[in-house]
Amino acid sequence: MKRKKISGLLSTSQRDIDINVYGWVRTRRDSKGGFSFIEIYDGSCFKGIQIIADSSLPNYEQDIQKLSAGCAVFVQGMLVESLGSGQSVEVQAKKIDVLGFADPEKYPLQKKRHSFEFLRQIAHLRPRTNTFGAVSRVRSALSYAIHSFFQENNFHYIHTPIITGSDCEGAGEMFRVTTLNLEQPPKKNGQVDYSHDFFAKASYLTVSGQLEAEIYALALGNVYTFGPTFRAENSNTSRHLAEFWMVEPEMAFCDLKEDAETAENFLKYIIKHVLINRKDDMEFFNKFIDKSIIEKLENIISSEFIVLSYTEAVKILKSSKFNFSYPVQWGHNLQAEHERYLAQTYCRAPVVLIDFPKEIKPFYMRCNDDNKTVAAMDILFPAIGEIIGGSQREERYDILKNNMIEKKLNLDEYWWYLELREYGTVPHAGFGLGFDRLIQFVTGMGNIRDVIAFARTPKNADF
Ligand code: 4AD
Ligand code: MG
Repeated sequence: MKRKKISGLLSTSQRDIDINVYGWVRTRRDSKGGFSFIEIYDGSCFKGIQIIADSSLPNYEQDIQKLSAGCAVFVQGMLVESLGSGQSVEVQAKKIDVLGFADPEKYPLQKKRHSFEFLRQIAHLRPRTNTFGAVSRVRSALSYAIHSFFQENNFHYIHTPIITGSDCEGAGEMFRVTTLNLEQPPKKNGQVDYSHDFFAKASYLTVSGQLEAEIYALALGNVYTFGPTFRAENSNTSRHLAEFWMVEPEMAFCDLKEDAETAENFLKYIIKHVLINRKDDMEFFNKFIDKSIIEKLENIISSEFIVLSYTEAVKILKSSKFNFSYPVQWGHNLQAEHERYLAQTYCRAPVVLIDFPKEIKPFYMRCNDDNKTVAAMDILFPAIGEIIGGSQREERYDILKNNMIEKKLNLDEYWWYLELREYGTVPHAGFGLGFDRLIQFVTGMGNIRDVIAFARTPKNADF
């Protein structure tokens, strides 16, 4: 008989059927009446299922009465209507095999609740907890929704490279990829000679798949990439990772307005998906992590995103009575506190900030007619701040080339990017969603390190 998943057992209307179920023990309670209640979970859904083990089972004393949290079991039995409260069905066990004990004297996940800091040190065991199980399932459901949204809207999924020679964001925050002997690298004129390196040139882990996505958008129309990206910025905050996942659609024949509309529809679609399809996990977050998380998500779905120009935002911030730690000045990047103020306090809705000063944005953004600002957009969410960064791309050859020279890019490295503007150039736009920040927002988890399986942050790549 095949294995049945607990998610299926809890949702079936069938009763009094023989089933096989596998899982790990959450709790065991022995009743005076000569039987035990064992709750097992198998990861297929938030809830576990109750197993009734009668003392007449041959290994009752030897095995079953030794079961504790974390032990793995195989149960053969009958799925029956539950008489107790709290569950609709339970399993009357005919046979219970212990597949693996977990010594209760040593197993670290005994206590009901551990701090997230402690759980980070046992990243190999934390997915077994309620919280991390729920985060993992929500992450998976959101990944699925992302693909559904784009596939339903005729975007093609492109696999952009992880190893690259170009610094898309121009921030110089790249991890180097090399096979050179770092003790004694080959040198020429006192400089490391990368012509001897694996790729015969300096190479890095990508910070964004955008530039390659542009290549494909200019051939396939609408494309998206969804993969890991890497930033060697020394930011030890609750919303920065050195390795994070980004979703990057890129659309030909598209301007900033349509880019922002796509982003809004996309965010609403995937949030709706998770509320419908991961109800069990979302109820858990709503009860134990953030008591208003479901309401917040419903608000995102029902609210119109508010479009504000950077210049308007600076005016709002300057006239605010709020005591910011960092001063606000036109021409400077907004800080997280400013972003949060705008979305959470001032607008009480997601904000699409557009038209930033060109000096603080990368070379590829399209110059506006004022010659001072670019057609950029950042989408700010309450509590989290920036969740999406995007723009219309500069499609005019001469203006792009001048930007690149002004920003001191090596034109020889980007010849292909310029060539895209030489042959059949078209207006195009795209954006990047920080996937881990989205999971943070959706689950209400306070720290980005707790929404990715294995967090890479400064001085930490332990697991
Ligand atoms: O704003 P960013 O830097 O934009 C880009 O990389 C563009 N090339 C995207 C595009 O237009 N295709 O990054 C996009 C998003 C940010 O809004 C943020 O949510 C997230 O990526 N992000 C990070 N998330 C976690 N840890 C970090 N260190 C992050 N840096 C950016
Ligand atoms: Mg950004």
